[in-house]
Amino acid sequence: MSDLEDLLGPGAFGYFAGGAGDEITLRDNTAAWSRYRLAPRVLVDVTERDLGTTLLGRHRTHPIAVAPMAYQRHAHTGGERALAEAARAAEALFVLSSQTTTSLPEVADALGESDRWFQLYVFKDRQVSLDLVVQARESGYEALVLTVDFPVGGWRERDRRTGFHVTYPLALNPSGTALTTRQLHDMHDPSLTWDDIGEFAAAAGMPVILKGILRPDDAERAVDAGAAGIIVSNHGGRQLDTTAAAVDALVPIVDAVGGGLDLLVDGGITRGWDVAKALALGADAVLVGRHVLWGLARGGAEGAEAVLRQLVAEFDTTLALLGCPRAADLDASYVLR
Ligand SMILES: Cc1cc2nc3c(=O)[nH]c(=O)nc-3n(C[C@H](O)[C@H](O)[C@H](O)COP(=O)(O)O)c2cc1C
Repeated sequence: MSDLEDLLGPGAFGYFAGGAGDEITLRDNTAAWSRYRLAPRVLVDVTERDLGTTLLGRHRTHPIAVAPMAYQRHAHTGGERALAEAARAAEALFVLSSQTTTSLPEVADALGESDRWFQLYVFKDRQVSLDLVVQARESGYEALVLTVDFPVGGWRERDRRTGFHVTYPLALNPSGTALTTRQLHDMHDPSLTWDDIGEFAAAAGMPVILKGILRPDDAERAVDAGAAGIIVSNHGGRQLDTTAAAVDALVPIVDAVGGGLDLLVDGGITRGWDVAKALALGADAVLVGRHVLWGLARGGAEGAEAVLRQLVAEFDTTLALLGCPRAADLDASYVLR
């Protein structure tokens, strides 16, 4: 049993750590970043470094964002509030999950002026989703991240084995009656299509980013649908097992739509040099999930902040050692393919 399993118990640990099926994609997400090798340029003055990136037309201090993750109070009593505080301290964009165990205004309060996006699942009871969009707008969330890779829950055997129950109130289940993840996943709307995107974009009145794109033709459709960005993601290996690792999916998507909209990627990112590879291959930013969540589980806001700060510091060191002092100048020449 790992220390984290001891800390969280088998149910919550399995939910957070686990993936779908045989967890092939879960493992491959991390392994794939290591398969790409870096090609440093020497004798470049790297005294001054600029980690900044631009997202939705706004400058961000660095390209590392916190991925939306459900039920964070099952990881630490501080939950989403603590993770938001960590993001704020580390100047990381925070993406709040619609399966939050803390209210949208409370998280916004923890974030102060710091950057925040809101992630939305479309539930069979669409009014629950639309109400969340209104709350997000009223609480100063800047963009709507519509997750499109979750018509039904992935085949997650750890949850089946442990019978993990979510026991905190959610927008979807305000009373907080204990529900299994399968019961919660059954509330997702499997009928969502491209035709529905406009309804949510209109209700949001803010830029829409589609999360969970893995194919170049879907990326092109996202451009046509007016999305401001896409997140290339296999949901951390939690939905369909044996889909492509995040970085492997990124490359053909960049070839198809690079420059046409903001491109983010997530899955298996644990090191600053992974971040550099993502940007070199054409992403504008990355999201980090479990790696930050483990910091939260171990040490609350401080633990998560330490993880984020280390990632930023590793990214900074990587830029220096790559001979590329400006993150914005990273390009494919820095990666052997
Ligand atoms: C415990 C957990 C809960 C998640 N909940 C959500 C969610 O509510 N909404 C969503 O769009 N993605 C969710 N994701 C997926 C993440 O946003 C992200 O795509 C993934 O975690 C990235 O992979 P990584 O954990 O290897 O960094 C969740 C991931 C984890 C690990």
